[in-house]
Amino acid sequence: MKESFWHACWERNSLGFHQKSIHPFLSQYLSPLISDNRFKQENQKEQLPTVFVPLCGKTDDMVWLAERFNVVGAELSDIACRDFFIEKDIVTSPKAIGDFKRYTHQNIELWQGDFFGLKASQFQKFDWIYDRAAIIALPKAMQQRYAEHLTTFIDDKTKLFLISLEFPQEELEGPPFAIVDKDVRRLFSNFKIECIAEHDLEDKTFAQRTFNVSYLKEKLFIISK
Ligand SMILES: C[S@@+](CC[C@H](N)C(=O)[O-])C[C@H]1O[C@@H](n2cnc3c(N)ncnc32)[C@H](O)[C@@H]1O
Repeated sequence: MKESFWHACWERNSLGFHQKSIHPFLSQYLSPLISDNRFKQENQKEQLPTVFVPLCGKTDDMVWLAERFNVVGAELSDIACRDFFIEKDIVTSPKAIGDFKRYTHQNIELWQGDFFGLKASQFQKFDWIYDRAAIIALPKAMQQRYAEHLTTFIDDKTKLFLISLEFPQEELEGPPFAIVDKDVRRLFSNFKIECIAEHDLEDKTFAQRTFNVSYLKEKLFIISK
């Protein structure tokens, strides 16, 4: 998938992947796995655990995450980063850092630029990585490259919260691009993989799009070293 494809989506506001609400897996499955930091004060920001959100778009899942974590997002589109804050009436001016622009507000920072140009050494170790509609946004050939780069952000204590999407790929021209269990095992072959949930999307609706496919399901994998 070329960068121009995604820039065009954002310019045309063609955002079928963008959810109108928070992904239910967060409260259902992430909450029980973390201690609740919601009541920590602003001056305890540095004590919050950290979450990395690659290919974050302008997802409001980051709002839910920011109540519990310091959030670092990576996103190609400047429109996405800008709109994430504008839609919350937050005024923030980005700072240029190398090839990136960094937008920050309180405990959220969005790095606008190419995810593949970010280095794990630029950040403190992440406790969690949240992938919703990131790996599945990429065609098979790029999923391998993405997984290789993503795993450089996985430290001994990092857990990757990966939401996959399964459907018969021949019934739909991507994106999204399906990944099934054997893809997850291949892409993260040196890692511990647990599948902790499986939900059929019976109405075949994925965010703002309804697909004409015979089945559509999301699975949740927790991946760690
Ligand atoms: C399917 S959308 C999902 C966005 C978000 N995860 C969500 O749940 O709404 C994929 C996003 O990846 C971004 N993207 C694609 N390639 C990228 C890259 N190389 N670096 C950073 N972001 C990228 C696109 O601009 C788009 O916003």
